[in-house]
Amino acid sequence: MEVVIVENAAAGGALVAEAVARLLARRPDALIGVATGSTPIPVYAALAAMARRGEADLSRARIAQLDEYAGLPPGHPESYRSVLVRQVLEPLGIPADSFLGPDGSADDPVAACAAYDRALAAAGGVDLQLLGIGTDGHIGFNEPCSSLSSRTRLKTLTERTRADNARFFGDDPDRVPRHVITQGVGTILEARHLVLLATGEAKAEAVAATVEGPLTARCPSSALQLHPHATVVADEAAASRLE
Ligand code: F6R
Repeated sequence: MEVVIVENAAAGGALVAEAVARLLARRPDALIGVATGSTPIPVYAALAAMARRGEADLSRARIAQLDEYAGLPPGHPESYRSVLVRQVLEPLGIPADSFLGPDGSADDPVAACAAYDRALAAAGGVDLQLLGIGTDGHIGFNEPCSSLSSRTRLKTLTERTRADNARFFGDDPDRVPRHVITQGVGTILEARHLVLLATGEAKAEAVAATVEGPLTARCPSSALQLHPHATVVADEAAASRLE
């Protein structure tokens, strides 16, 4: 695993955006796995700026969603699909048919999970997966004690993650959906390159556990230690507990 420490969130966003642009220069139709939440926003902003300056060509890029709330009505503004349309597809000019994601409002969410794993495989697999990290070490919505070989599946969020995400639901944890569809840890590990971005002091403990802790399902992000090409980009605050 390589660890890159940058000064702040903006520098992390720029660094990761450059990695995505380099990949697209080599492979214009690369499948880029994207996360939601606050952390990747500077990446998407930097990529949009690079595209405007002609430094990144996203015209053939394909996008794959990491996780999704289950049970929100289609088009709900806080569904991760809606968020990614606003933050990634529209600003980067990527058409909807280049976007893969699980159907969070499916009547049969278990079938939707299996269908998404099949769709990812049929698309040739994810070339670069961008990850954030939860304060408890979750990646995607694989909460502590998720199997490290898990596939895309339905999961129940912990109260801690619902509290962390309440800011997107009027600061009311009770409005945060209880269930999610997430790529499994095993699914995530199949991406060719994993790039985990962590910013802010609140992530420092989780980053230290990811990089220097034991490989354990109690910290799902520690599974990055198993991957032959994993990069952790942390700002100084998020890296502050590394030895
Ligand atoms: C979201 C996701 C989550 C977040 C994590 C950190 O798609 O996969 O694992 O990356 O909860 O969220 P932020 O970036 O909001 O701190």
